[in-house]
Amino acid sequence: MAPRILVIDDEPAIRDSLRMILEYEDYQFVGAASGPEGMAAVKRESPDMVLLDIKMPGVSGLEVLADIRKVDESLPVAMISGHGTITDAMQATRLGAFDFIEKPFTSERVLVTVAKGLELRSLRRENRELKVAMEARYELVGQGPALRKVFEAVQRAAPTTATVLLLGESGVGKELVARAIHRNSTRAGQRFVQVNCAAIPEELIESELFGHEKGSFTGATEKQTGKFEQADRGTIFLDEVGDMSPKTQAKVLRVLQEQEVERLGSARTIKVDVRVIAATNKDLEGAIRRGEFREDLFFRLNVIPITVPPLRERPEDIPLLVRHFAQRTSEEHNIKPAKFDPRTMEALQRHRWRGNIRELRNTIERLLIMTPGDVIRVDDLPVEVRSEGASQAGGTVGTGAGTTQGGPALSIDGNSVAPTGQPGTLREFKEAAERAFLVEKLRENGWNISKTAEALDTPRSNLYKKLEQYGIKQEIDG
Ligand SMILES: Nc1ncnc2c1ncn2[C@@H]1O[C@H](COP(=O)(O)OP(=O)(O)OP(=O)(O)O)[C@@H](O)[C@H]1O
Ligand SMILES: [Mg+2]
Repeated sequence: MAPRILVIDDEPAIRDSLRMILEYEDYQFVGAASGPEGMAAVKRESPDMVLLDIKMPGVSGLEVLADIRKVDESLPVAMISGHGTITDAMQATRLGAFDFIEKPFTSERVLVTVAKGLELRSLRRENRELKVAMEARYELVGQGPALRKVFEAVQRAAPTTATVLLLGESGVGKELVARAIHRNSTRAGQRFVQVNCAAIPEELIESELFGHEKGSFTGATEKQTGKFEQADRGTIFLDEVGDMSPKTQAKVLRVLQEQEVERLGSARTIKVDVRVIAATNKDLEGAIRRGEFREDLFFRLNVIPITVPPLRERPEDIPLLVRHFAQRTSEEHNIKPAKFDPRTMEALQRHRWRGNIRELRNTIERLLIMTPGDVIRVDDLPVEVRSEGASQAGGTVGTGAGTTQGGPALSIDGNSVAPTGQPGTLREFKEAAERAFLVEKLRENGWNISKTAEALDTPRSNLYKKLEQYGIKQEIDG
């Protein structure tokens, strides 16, 4: 359908000439002779952009502009003005007009502005859709009492600038909680900068966090701003904070104390205003006792601790999560939605998800993609989920409420290596084989990434990518 352009101008001659210019280019023209008439047209005709006369008797163009903004924030408006109305023009820009057409105008001038406006319209639409999709992606699903406690803590902590320390096993949703805190804070409009302290090689982490000047070390060919600077006025999320080296810990502590950073190779300090959220699945108190984690840094981070409980302590959330992931998978992969047999759901709720929600999500995705029928039955489940006894024999660590830290859960049953019950296609077989191979090599090398990468003769970055791709985790596959 041709884009619809609304022209609001009190002079019939201007409306007529714009109508001719626009209709000649196959745009749909909608005319309005006054502000109120124009506002009615905005609501009735849902135009794609507006050309608005700045000077009209009665309600002025600026007032109409402000009203349009209230009704539809993303509708692009260009002003039509006589010459010499600079202050009006500035005012209009402040109110969000994206362009000006000065009278008298040529048709080229009008068409350039209209093209710009329509482009802006589609960008803004796309943006909004992306935002909605992003929000769905980061939605925290679950209503059980355990998660509700987490929600309440998020609500209380979010509006403050206090440092939050998120604790909990791998895959429980710490990253989602961190994003929820940021979204609900006064910094929501600013950046959320995530740093995975475990994935960055030791020799790069400082330059990653604090930035560096050009030439400050071999390989520093360009100046780089660090994550702390990037997060200025926003939130920095220090993920896997328990994996930082003592040297990095000392530097991070300094930033938290002084609220300023120093780029590598620079003597100048830069003030930063960042809200810190940290997360770890490690037992930090144990690490402190072993001398691996600085106690003073722990106290700095541990202002508001929030523990995200493991999935086995909130089986009541499982049906909701299953439906959520099933729907997302069917949308993403364009496959028909599937129903879950009640017995399947029971088995899913009984299973002790050592990989927590990440493992549940992967399982549901695979089930949806691999199961031919539209009802998923118990027999479709991977064997370790189906036979609840077997998965519990793997050694259950006592789970006192709140003590979700326990180091990597060790299990020796080989079941978890195979990603699905039976691979169907060659690709699935290859992937299953590759996954099993990687897990074996990781175990051989004591889950030391550098050593494993070396043994496999592949770059660490590639190994990290594979771990991510297959959802390989020491806690699940160790
Ligand atoms: N309540 C939830 N609702 C919907 N999805 C969730 C929920 N919690 C976690 N997830 C999903 O589970 C996966 C793992 O979550 P996340 O990455 O936040 O875990 P984590 O605690 O940070 O794990 P790790 O310690 O391994 O980094 C993600 O795909 C996330 O989207
Ligand atoms: Mg995480």
